[in-house]
Amino acid sequence: MTLHLCSLLVFSLLQALQSSTIYSITASSPLFQHQTLVSSSQIFELRFFTPKGSTKQYVGIQYKKMTPSKVVWVANRDKPLGPTDQSASLIIGEDGNLKLFDGRQNTVWSTNVMAKSNYSEALLSDFGNFVLQDREKNIMWESFDEPTDTLLPSMKIGVNVKKGKKLNLTSWKGEDDPSLGSFVVGVTSEKAPQLFTWNGSSPYWRSGQWEKTKFNGIPNITNINYDLQQDNVQGTTYYYLKNNSPFFHYFFITSEGSLKSVYWSTVWTTYWEAPTPTTPCEIYGICGPFGVCNPSSSPMCRCLEGFKPRSDEEWNRGNWTRGCLRKMELNCQKSASATASTTMEKDKFVQMRQIKLPDSANHLLIDNAEGCQSWCLENCSCLAFSYVNAIGCMAWSKDLLDTQQFSMGGEDLFIRLVDASAGVPTRTKLIIILSTISGIILFGAGISVCGLSKWGGKFRKMTIPRLVTSEDLLRDTAWKDQMKEDDTSKLVVYDFDSIRLATDNFNVKNKLGQGGFGPVYKGKLNDGKEIATKRLSSSSSQGIAEFKNEILLISKLQHRNLVRLLGCCIEGEEKILVYEYLPNKSLDTFLFDSKEKAKLSWSVRFHIIQGVARGLLYLHRDSCLRVIHRDLKVSNILLDEKMNPKISDFGLSRMFEGTQVLVNTHKIVGTR
Ligand SMILES: *[C@@H]1O[C@H](CO)[C@@H](O)[C@H](O)[C@H]1NC(C)=O
Ligand SMILES: *[C@@H]1O[C@H](CO)[C@@H](O)[C@H](O)[C@H]1NC(C)=O
Ligand SMILES: *[C@@H]1O[C@H](CO)[C@@H](O)[C@H](O)[C@H]1NC(C)=O
Ligand SMILES: *[C@@H]1O[C@H](CO)[C@@H](O)[C@H](O)[C@H]1NC(C)=O
Ligand SMILES: *[C@@H]1O[C@H](CO)[C@@H](O)[C@H](O)[C@H]1NC(C)=O
Ligand SMILES: *[C@@H]1O[C@H](CO)[C@@H](O)[C@H](O)[C@H]1NC(C)=O
Repeated sequence: MTLHLCSLLVFSLLQALQSSTIYSITASSPLFQHQTLVSSSQIFELRFFTPKGSTKQYVGIQYKKMTPSKVVWVANRDKPLGPTDQSASLIIGEDGNLKLFDGRQNTVWSTNVMAKSNYSEALLSDFGNFVLQDREKNIMWESFDEPTDTLLPSMKIGVNVKKGKKLNLTSWKGEDDPSLGSFVVGVTSEKAPQLFTWNGSSPYWRSGQWEKTKFNGIPNITNINYDLQQDNVQGTTYYYLKNNSPFFHYFFITSEGSLKSVYWSTVWTTYWEAPTPTTPCEIYGICGPFGVCNPSSSPMCRCLEGFKPRSDEEWNRGNWTRGCLRKMELNCQKSASATASTTMEKDKFVQMRQIKLPDSANHLLIDNAEGCQSWCLENCSCLAFSYVNAIGCMAWSKDLLDTQQFSMGGEDLFIRLVDASAGVPTRTKLIIILSTISGIILFGAGISVCGLSKWGGKFRKMTIPRLVTSEDLLRDTAWKDQMKEDDTSKLVVYDFDSIRLATDNFNVKNKLGQGGFGPVYKGKLNDGKEIATKRLSSSSSQGIAEFKNEILLISKLQHRNLVRLLGCCIEGEEKILVYEYLPNKSLDTFLFDSKEKAKLSWSVRFHIIQGVARGLLYLHRDSCLRVIHRDLKVSNILLDEKMNPKISDFGLSRMFEGTQVLVNTHKIVGTR
């Protein structure tokens, strides 16, 4: 034994004098501290190294020519050599294994494989793989099977469930300390695998589900050259850098827990990183259960629709860890506790777009979105679902965790909620209150604006007779006939030429004012009757048919304190409403004119206020339509020759917002 060691030493000293670079390690040619093992094209080298600021020695692989060089693999991460180990060596032992000896010939690290003989040879490939092979060049061991913190092209990480084997990356403890750090990178074996970074045993970052070419949590990934392969027969799921990616390119986990993709272009350049210090949204579950993170909003966390913070106080402090709670119990949960005879309403789904889908999805064998939705609806423990073409049907039955909202990319997520009709939307209440307040401010007197619009929506649906079918309306003549028949409305259909004649071709001297929906002109018809015409700006999104129907409805609103609609004119792009003409114009011409103001005695003012209140009461409560005016202002209160007030412009906002039921409007309209 001693003889053997002596001869070995002499031999290798001789070799060391010849060259400090070797191309292989054999039983007769170990690696000493002053030597490097290089790959055949001198791309990688394996050598003893001491990290800066450290006194410990390690054996590792690094790029030979690109500086600063990145250590891509370390043999003895947790068994460093001391500074005094001046005569350490990496040898092929008698059993054919690679062994790292310290200065006193103790084995610090070994490959530990079954070898047939000591005719083993260790080589470093140009891909950075350190390989131990037998006499027949069969690979017995390779460093690619024991990754440290770096993934190189043609290397893989992942899982083999059949063999119970994991290939993962583990960070260094510190920038200059290769020992095992707390961050581990691996791949899950679920149907749509995910890339994970764990801090110890808790998830720290998640890629989102794999969608055949990309992860849904990394939206603009096209320039990242990786791929993922799953083989259900072998039970393997592997993640790797694509062959066509830059050769000088690596992917690694920093000691702080960031994943980085780095390539060489005169210097090492990081082109992707997650999570970055500037995007805390990417930290796993930062907004807690049922929270969603949006990096471009402030604060970045909010609750999913239908959910509220578990603790407002914590939430407002920016402590989101405990997340959100459901505002209202699901119908299906209620019906589970109710008696069988009660029929409960079904829950509904709200759609969220551009989402990094939550963690812990169940994968179902349903190959269409409708089936996915109805499966989820039928199973009360299903809280959300998503159908992604590249994956299939996913459903969630646990807390929705680590959901993120992007401005591009991502997927649609459908969240189960109680049907909206079960609750009164809070914003509607707000609008009713606001209109009440503005009414009071405007008229000084306590005019009550009845908040009955919610009711009114239903009422209207039930009692308004269907005037004309839409097929009828498509044929103009049918519509005109209908109008003539409808004697209660006495609505006249004017042709455009007669209106043009009456207004002197919309002459500016006839212009009475400019309303929100278009200018108003005074006109005089052939029979001497004075009219006011409102020429609507053609910005209505409504179709002609609905528009006509609305006019028919509005013409039915008749009250002495409302301006009367006499008729209309629809030709081509032109939409004109014809009203009775009121000689005293509008209230603002009195109120805001120092001379005219004097004409408004207190009794006249009171008369006006009363009239407006009556008109409003009719619109809001007593009419068949229950219209909310939404733009009531002094210029919309017209005065007849006896100073009777008449509200104008009612129903127009309704006409311009289509057929929506007013109670559900969230839009703010009117005049500033
Ligand atoms: C390899 O093993 C053979 C016997 O199995 C032995 O004769 C030889 O000396 C060994 N070589 C080295 C370098 O240990
Ligand atoms: C990482 O992989 C190694 C084997 O390569 C395994 O021993 C270790 O448990 C894995 N770590 C985690 C956290 O999965
Ligand atoms: C990782 O976990 C450790 C121990 O739980 C903790 O002290 C540390 O702050 C965590 N690191 C990060 C970046 O979250
Ligand atoms: C992804 O998109 C964002 C915003 O457009 C951009 O800042 C970022 O650099 C992109 N990342 C990659 C890897 O392309
Ligand atoms: C956030 O709230 C949780 C639960 O109440 C508490 O345990 C934790 O210490 C809080 N974190 C911070 C940073 O305040
Ligand atoms: C409902 O979903 C849960 C969770 O995914 C599952 O365990 C259960 O078997 C499902 N029930 C039915 C009737 O499909």
